[in-house]
Amino acid sequence: MEPTLTSSIVILTGAGVSAESGLGTFRDTDGHWTKYDLNDVATPEGFARNPVLVHEFYNARRRNCAGARPNPAHLALARLETGFNGTVMVVTQNIDDLHERAGSRAVCHMHGTLSRALCAACGHRWDAPAVMAADDPCPGCRTPATRPDVVWFGEMPYFMDEICAALESVDLFVSIGTSGSVYPAAGFVEIARSAGARTLELNLEPSDTASAFDETRQGAAGVLVPAWVDTVLATQ
Ligand code: APR
Repeated sequence: MEPTLTSSIVILTGAGVSAESGLGTFRDTDGHWTKYDLNDVATPEGFARNPVLVHEFYNARRRNCAGARPNPAHLALARLETGFNGTVMVVTQNIDDLHERAGSRAVCHMHGTLSRALCAACGHRWDAPAVMAADDPCPGCRTPATRPDVVWFGEMPYFMDEICAALESVDLFVSIGTSGSVYPAAGFVEIARSAGARTLELNLEPSDTASAFDETRQGAAGVLVPAWVDTVLATQ
């Protein structure tokens, strides 16, 4: 699907776009949620029960992220942003920074980011150190209530007003490497469709919301995304 007469593209990415960089997904056979209970490490209640475990989980993911490199899918999306005669917005559920390190600038981290820390007591934010600990004091209020600046289950994703505004005027919505099992991101295809956008899914397997897309392609993001970007740039 090529964006003929298209001036705006919104791309939703999930863990599958970073899988070929060696960062695990959540729900695949060896995914994070097969090794950890998400209620323990990805909810405010889990953090209140055992902040040490939660920090260990995110410290490991921060370490993996630092050792990972953008793959051809991230690089192709950065190339799209530079070469497309219109607007390209990447909305990612990922908390890694591989889109930015590939060169994308318009990236919206709706689930937060590993690179920032948040004080649960006063809301202050700052650059996360490589290793965070439960008794780190907040640089603002000194309370030892430091948490990763990531969005957990039961919390409101970030930038929803900006994302919904973009979806309501988008020409082409593309979902890459996400299982479509977590809302509100899983509902973005319907918002875009209602606004008249064409919709495309690029995923290893059909997602839970595959039937809502005009077109779906199955395969590895590192192969599908560069090929799709090449066609978009060649036909605009
Ligand atoms: N290329 C393309 N798609 C892939 C690849 C790949 N190389 N590898 C895996 N996938 C697909 C899987 O088939 C799956 O559909 O990526 C999807 C990953 O799905 P999830 O593990 O559920 O990850 P995601 O959709 O990003 O999860 C959403 O759930 O737990 C939360 O906050 C977490 O942001 C995350 C949210």
